Amino acid sequence: MPSHDHKGAREKSNPLILIPLLLFGVYVIYLVVWLPFRYGAETGLLEAAYRAPADPNDEEEVFDYRELRQPSEELIAQGARVYQLHCQSCHGAEGGGDGPAAAALTVKPRSFDAPVEEWRIGASVLEMHETLRDGVGAMPAMPALNPRQKFAVIHFVHDEFMEEWPEDPPEMVAALPEPAVGVDVTIDPYADPRVPVRYAMRKLLEQAAEEEENEDGGGE
Ligand code: HEC
Repeated sequence: MPSHDHKGAREKSNPLILIPLLLFGVYVIYLVVWLPFRYGAETGLLEAAYRAPADPNDEEEVFDYRELRQPSEELIAQGARVYQLHCQSCHGAEGGGDGPAAAALTVKPRSFDAPVEEWRIGASVLEMHETLRDGVGAMPAMPALNPRQKFAVIHFVHDEFMEEWPEDPPEMVAALPEPAVGVDVTIDPYADPRVPVRYAMRKLLEQAAEEEENEDGGGE
């Protein structure tokens, strides 16, 4: 690690050294502002505020698909929040497939009152769950939503935007998994190497050290 007392000397021989400092500044801003927000949005912490307080002794939530498949007022209310955060930009406030982000898409988001034949996977609860889990065409998978959030938003879409929807195919119901903890993947933004700033910084430092070595007449 170069230390700051060498700064004056190095600045002359190698202005590159300023880049890591700059990157570090950007990184700090990223850490302080953006990460907490993203973390809240992606882990459902933002939604947690709208849910009944969880049992403090109950650390891990058990997801029961059979139970979640049934709509309830609580799920629908939670689904409204999920919809605003994760769907509305594309599918629109009225569910017409005309959100602001849809303008940029060549394949338009499904309008939720589209006739049954237009749906690619289907409009039943479990079919929509498949869509959210795996994505379909231009519709992205939603790994950041936990199972409760997925079913919540499905019930909300049914309740809010649709007159009627098909029953779940019996084979899908039969294939439902047993209740389990953490049954779906939830993205951990801290583990996800989206912004490898540290790596970039290390590379730059290595490079700077190498160049210095070469200048000194060393190196290969
Ligand atoms: C990036 C924009 C985008 C976002 C965000 C988005 N969708 Fe979509 N969605 C699409 C597009 C585009 C399609 C049409 C896909 C196709 O036909 O290829 C679609 C299709 C669908 C379908 C129809 C699948 C079928 O069987 O045809 C459902 C259901 C759906 N989205 C639900 C949701 C829900 C619920 C959310 C929020 C959790 C969401 N979408 C978020 C773009 C988006």
